[in-house]
Amino acid sequence: MKLSEKIRYVGLNDTTTKLFEHQWTIPYGVSYNSYLIVDEKIALIDTAAAACREEFLEKIKDEIGTRPIDFLVVNHMEPDHSALQQAIREKYPDCEIVTNAKAVPMIEGFQGIKDNIKVIKEGETLALGETTLQFFMVPMVHWPETMVTWCPEEKTLFSGDAFGTFKVAPECVIDSKSDIFNEYESEMRRYYSSIVGKYGGPVQTALKKLSGLEISRICSTHGPVWENSIPQVLEMYDRLSASRLEKGVCLVYGSMYGNTAKAAEAIRAQLTAMNIPVQIHDLCEEDLSFALADVFKYDSLIVGSPTYNAGLFPPVSAFMEALKARGVKNRKFAAFGSYSWAGTSVKILNNLAAEMQFETVHDGISFAQGFAPEKFAADQIAQSFA
Ligand code: FEO
Repeated sequence: MKLSEKIRYVGLNDTTTKLFEHQWTIPYGVSYNSYLIVDEKIALIDTAAAACREEFLEKIKDEIGTRPIDFLVVNHMEPDHSALQQAIREKYPDCEIVTNAKAVPMIEGFQGIKDNIKVIKEGETLALGETTLQFFMVPMVHWPETMVTWCPEEKTLFSGDAFGTFKVAPECVIDSKSDIFNEYESEMRRYYSSIVGKYGGPVQTALKKLSGLEISRICSTHGPVWENSIPQVLEMYDRLSASRLEKGVCLVYGSMYGNTAKAAEAIRAQLTAMNIPVQIHDLCEEDLSFALADVFKYDSLIVGSPTYNAGLFPPVSAFMEALKARGVKNRKFAAFGSYSWAGTSVKILNNLAAEMQFETVHDGISFAQGFAPEKFAADQIAQSFA
């Protein structure tokens, strides 16, 4: 598919895989985006996931026929983009891999390729004919070897995972519909918080480094090609990576027999009555990435957990671990939860909140056995977030 006379999209949509990275649910699928620059020389930017081999090779052939690929640019080595490097080498044996020094051992480790690799440095260029490629290192967006590729003649940034999103690319690939950014906003935030969320600092560094480029097209590795929504996409990455948060509450809980769930619902009702924005997430019913996406949106977090084996209920424990792993901090916080004979969950949650530099605005409520609305001061918790 032509994005321009010289840039062709050869990515694929995946609606079969249930879990991205074998852990994140993708109900709307995902795309593995790859691009050809067809000039006097032909360059391929990244590849795709292993399962896409035949379709990927077919798409390339549809674009370039019997011409060879001269360069395979490796921006990122996570296997959703690198798994078909060996397949490209088999089909196009003279194809030279172009990448940076940090990717070289990964290429050997993942793909067993050691030869015909051109190692480039920050800012170096590669001429293809009328077009040029220039390379910028963006370590930890999303792995240490990650770089982006800039084509100045096309004002196109091949951005790797940056500005990517869950959900398959639209049929036309480009974000040509006016409201398409809004269609992708929540899945993009879920992708960012799950995959890139730990690396806000490196994302900020990358955004500053790339801020001088006059970008007209962003070709990321997942989701639409951004042409019309570039300001929104850049603003979103800047906001998420800088932790600029909206006023509102992400209310997250797990519940064994429904008592902590009833308490959560009581808090949600009070927040709503006070016109405080709230998104509620049941960790037993949904992937924790949906809750993570709202943690990265709102300035407040309320967490409910029953006491289980004198600790946290395991789904809630996994959620708190996910927050710690991403370095989430500076949220207003409160905890609640039921217990059967000895309550520890609220104390544990408050301790974790202190570790993460949250501001605990209410001591929390730990209640024995069944939920009784008259004994549970949901209004006081809600009031603490006003
Ligand atoms: Fe889409 Fe970090 O790979």
